[in-house]
Amino acid sequence: MSDQKRVLSCIQPTGELHLGNYFGAVKNWVDLQEKYRCFYGVVDYHAITMPYNAAKLRNQTWDLIVDLVAVGIDPKNLFIQSLIPEHAELCWIFNCFASFGHVSRMTQFKDKSQSSSAKSKDSFISVGLFDYPVLQAADILIYKADYVPVGKDQDQHLELTRAIADRFNHATGKDYFVLPETLHTDTPKIKSPADPTKKMSKSAGEKHYIGVFAEEARIIKQVKSAVTDTGGTPDGEMSAGVENLFELLRASGGEGYDEQLSAFQSGNLRYSDLKETVAASLVKLTKGFKERKAEILEDKRGLKYQIKEASAEIRKEAQKTLAEVKELSGLMNVKL
Ligand code: TRP
Repeated sequence: MSDQKRVLSCIQPTGELHLGNYFGAVKNWVDLQEKYRCFYGVVDYHAITMPYNAAKLRNQTWDLIVDLVAVGIDPKNLFIQSLIPEHAELCWIFNCFASFGHVSRMTQFKDKSQSSSAKSKDSFISVGLFDYPVLQAADILIYKADYVPVGKDQDQHLELTRAIADRFNHATGKDYFVLPETLHTDTPKIKSPADPTKKMSKSAGEKHYIGVFAEEARIIKQVKSAVTDTGGTPDGEMSAGVENLFELLRASGGEGYDEQLSAFQSGNLRYSDLKETVAASLVKLTKGFKERKAEILEDKRGLKYQIKEASAEIRKEAQKTLAEVKELSGLMNVKL
């Protein structure tokens, strides 16, 4: 049990789970639970680095917890970041082991600080947004994760995490931290149905994502209105929109995939048939999720209790690491 490799990943509570999150990340998290000791965090400390609404944040955090459990994440593996304040304390220590130059090169900070919401008139760019990757390093290293399943967009943050671990190891003369590896799994990258050249995301607006728990009629409507012709696609090649529909079909179970593909290859593909097949496949897959979610919502308090317990259990790991880190770095430990 104890030599089981550890997997850690986290997600920000930014609203309802969509098919891009599910197929691109969360489905893989569910599968990894069979082989590894998994830690999955809903990272609300990260969510306050950008302009946000305090009244909404806590609800969004619980909503995401419900969604994650409904699609198959074991509540025992789930924690809420702000229930484990050791993340923030380790982040402070890591701030002193992270190079300012290295953190300044993070492209996610550059992108986010240039985004329209960061630039809106009553907004500002917080030090927290700059420091975000150091907190991420703390999330990962506090559980001594071996593997971190994330998308390619997080490679830079993982490299920074390893640099921090490495500097800490050198500075303290102990090989304390094992350098974590990125786990790149070939997950489907789902695109926006309204603009298949961009990834599915909530920030672009309602048309750009399909919710995992969306009503059947809404799923059908969104698939029906998905953009198929983006223009400029050479004969015999798939346009980005058609490719996205095939990707959704395969990811959701693939019933009818071969027929649709041979129709495409022989030049007889009818978009309306393809869309019907995709919609049917998505409706079938998400039906179980919706049922599970309805069950959870009947006893939401029970789930909240379970997650607080799980976070308290997971916190023990974080406390152990933090105590060892403080010991190694010459800081004081309160021994009770
Ligand atoms: N930065 C990640 C994202 O934007 C979220 C995240 C925070 C994370 N802490 C993490 C991912 C630790 C993996 C491990 O998606």
